[in-house]
Amino acid sequence: LHIVHIAVEMAPIAKVGGLGDVVTSLSRAVQELNHNVDIIFPKYDCIKYNFVKDLQFNRSYHWGETEIKVWHGKVEGVSVYFLDPQNGLFQRGCVYGCADDAARFGFFCHAALEFLLQGGFHPDILHCHDWSSAPVSWLFKDLYTHYGLIKTRVVFTIHNLEFGASAIGKAMTFSDKATTVSRTYAKEVAGNSVISPHLYKFHGIVNGIDPDIWDPYNDNFIPVPYTSENVVEGKRAAKEELQNRLGLKSADLPLVGIITRLTHQKGIHLIKHAIWRTLERNGQQVVLLGSAPDPRIQNDFVNLANQLHSTHSDRARLVLTYDEPLSHLIYAGADFILVPSIFEPCGLTQLIAMRYGAVPVVRKTGGLYDTVFDVDHDKERAQAQVLEPNGFSFDGADAPGVDYALNRAISAWYDGREWFNSLCKTVMEQDWSWNRPALEYIELYHSARK
Ligand code: ADP
Ligand code: GLC
Repeated sequence: LHIVHIAVEMAPIAKVGGLGDVVTSLSRAVQELNHNVDIIFPKYDCIKYNFVKDLQFNRSYHWGETEIKVWHGKVEGVSVYFLDPQNGLFQRGCVYGCADDAARFGFFCHAALEFLLQGGFHPDILHCHDWSSAPVSWLFKDLYTHYGLIKTRVVFTIHNLEFGASAIGKAMTFSDKATTVSRTYAKEVAGNSVISPHLYKFHGIVNGIDPDIWDPYNDNFIPVPYTSENVVEGKRAAKEELQNRLGLKSADLPLVGIITRLTHQKGIHLIKHAIWRTLERNGQQVVLLGSAPDPRIQNDFVNLANQLHSTHSDRARLVLTYDEPLSHLIYAGADFILVPSIFEPCGLTQLIAMRYGAVPVVRKTGGLYDTVFDVDHDKERAQAQVLEPNGFSFDGADAPGVDYALNRAISAWYDGREWFNSLCKTVMEQDWSWNRPALEYIELYHSARK
């Protein structure tokens, strides 16, 4: 199959959240299964060009009055066409955050289709993502099916229904197949009016992560390479380095890590509660790496960080920025990664955590429910997936819920180090790569063409 993704985020060159990880790693996985994959992407001025290989001018064409220069390069081994409209739409120093974002990305979607048409491409599948490339679905059906692209089918993936519901609804109507990023989130949103008329073509496929990109045995940002065989030594070294780097007391204590966008979705009140709860019980440490798009929330956390710096400077550190290298060290150095999201379409942090032998502590929602199986409560549910239980989870959206999961997690650390170490090994050995989900996507692509 020839699959063309049209997307506006991509790791590691322009990543804002998990959507960026998925576009790159799903493409790589499908390509490894011998399909032909291209990505069409805006040529932002803020792209991290050091990750783009073999960048070359490809061609130039016109869409309306605007000249669009096309560059071609490879990112993580995947072919990417970068569209550079000469009207400066992507010269804004950011991916999102402009008042005219919807118009900018609408223009990009149209320009991408025009590029395919004028370049004589005949992909089998156009795969678009979220509100930002949703217009591909209806522009394609309105304008391009007549131009020899009759065989092309449109697949639309919802990564988060919270943003751009009307564009998502329209894409649901015009796409041939639609997916979202976990089975449970698919069920949770099934009753939503923009989804419910289209359930016959709507599927939940749990995301994977790229085990080459997230690999504690081959990671420049952690001190000692490790696999499940030397997980204890590898994580101990990473914890020490993390403690030193952040000025925390260097000691063998349970360390809870949180790596997140700080938004309502991620359960801000539960995060705050968990930080205090962790510190209340003597002898635990907590590290949060997060940034808030909303300045009020950012400010709130800056105040909390200052407060903790004076009251618990040896045990708590909040790093309120986006920092990819530090995130690797936290995944490696933490015993637990807490993800108390109010809703979570899939969530990648719990999957990355497991790859680094950090045990996830999560709220039972969306993809967190599909990937984390409580050691005390979910043995059967895990067995049905041929998995061992791999974490701690809680229901509800209030403090007692978090306490319930966190207390059990921390007690497990203290009460049975051997058992806990074997849990770290178990979670590391589970396969949360794209191996399985990539096959599900390929099957879906084939079914779209029938
Ligand atoms: P979402 O896309 O909703 O933010 P996901 O769990 O799908 O949530 O993906 C989040 C991705 O962004 C993960 O790769 C995580 O490691 C990364 N991430 C989140 N916050 C930060 C941060 N402050 N610094 C570095 N990486 C971060
Ligand atoms: C969105 C969701 C997150 C998901 C990611 C990748 O950002 O919030 O749950 O993992 O997309 O699909």
